[in-house]
Amino acid sequence: MRHFLTLKDFTKDEILEIIDTGLRIKNNLKNKVYEKELDMQTLGMIFEKSSTRTRVSFEAGMFQLGGHALFLSNRDIHLGRGELIKDTARVISSMCDMVMIRTFKHSMIEEFALNSSVPVINGLTDSFHPVQLLADYMTLVEHNADKNIVAAYIGDGNNMTHSWMMLAAKLGFELRIATPKSYEVDSKILDDALALAKESDAKIIVTNDPKVAVNGASVVITDTWTSMGQEEEKEERIKIFQGFMVDEEMMTLAEKNAKLLHCLPAYRGLEVSEETFDKHANIIFNEAENRLHAQKGLMVWLDKQK
Ligand code: CP
Ligand code: NVA
Repeated sequence: MRHFLTLKDFTKDEILEIIDTGLRIKNNLKNKVYEKELDMQTLGMIFEKSSTRTRVSFEAGMFQLGGHALFLSNRDIHLGRGELIKDTARVISSMCDMVMIRTFKHSMIEEFALNSSVPVINGLTDSFHPVQLLADYMTLVEHNADKNIVAAYIGDGNNMTHSWMMLAAKLGFELRIATPKSYEVDSKILDDALALAKESDAKIIVTNDPKVAVNGASVVITDTWTSMGQEEEKEERIKIFQGFMVDEEMMTLAEKNAKLLHCLPAYRGLEVSEETFDKHANIIFNEAENRLHAQKGLMVWLDKQK
C-alpha cells in the first residue's frame, strides 16, 4: 500500500504512470466511456482549510469512478475538538477505502498516514501540494510543453514552490525560483530537492531577482503571495512582493510561447496582472480542470498498489 504525501516518495516512472492513467481516463470520459474502477469505494476527505478545486475534483472524480466521497470538515468531526490524529486515522480508515487530507502542518498528515490502514492523499499542507503538480504536469503534456522544460517560479517560497522543486528533481528539468528576501523556500526541503536533483539532470536555482529566473523560461509559474493561514500578513506581503507580479513586461523576458501556470485561486493585480492572466486563461483553467482527471488517475493507481 502506498500513500501520496509528497512527490519525494515517487519515482519519475511512477509519476508519469499516474499522469498517463489520468489521461487515459480523461480521454475515455470524452468518449462517454465511464470506467467504474473504484466501484463501491469511499473516499474520506478531511478539510482543515478552505477549498474549491480540491473538494470538487475529488468528490466528482470519486463519483465518476463509481465510488462515493465524504466531506469531513474539522468543524464537524471530533478531530477539531481534540480527538487524537491516530484515533481518527484508525477509525476513518476502518470505514473508508482512501483518505484525502488538507491541513496545516505536514507532520499531521504523516502521523495520520502512519496510523491509517488505507492510502492517504495529501490535498495540501503548509509544505506541499503534490496533487496540484500532477495536474500541472498533465497540462504541460497536453500543451506539448513537457519537453526541455525551463520553469520559472515567481513569488512566495511556499507549498507550491516546494512541490515544483520535487517535480523538477524527479523529472530532471531546470527550475529557477525567484522570491523576495526572507520569503525563500524552506532550506531543508531545498537541500532534499538538491540531493535528489543530483540523481536526475535537474537544475534548481534560487534567486531574489525575478528577471534572472524568468529569462528564456518555457514555463512561468506563480501563486498567491498570501497562502491560507497567512491572512494577517497580507498587507505587509503586498508591500514586500512589489516587483514580483507576473505581467506582460515580465513575460516578454520568457520564451516567446511560454506557458503561464497558476494553481488558483488567483489575485489579479497582485501576483499576476489582469492582462497576463487573461492571455493565459485557457491553459490556467485547463490546469484547474485537470485536477479532476489527474486525481482520478492517482486514486486508480493507488488502489492498484493495495
Ligand atoms: N488549487 C487548489 O488547490 O485550489 P483549492 O484551494 O480551491 O482547492
Ligand atoms: N499556496 C496556496 C495554494 C492554494 C491552492 C495556499 O496554500 O493557500
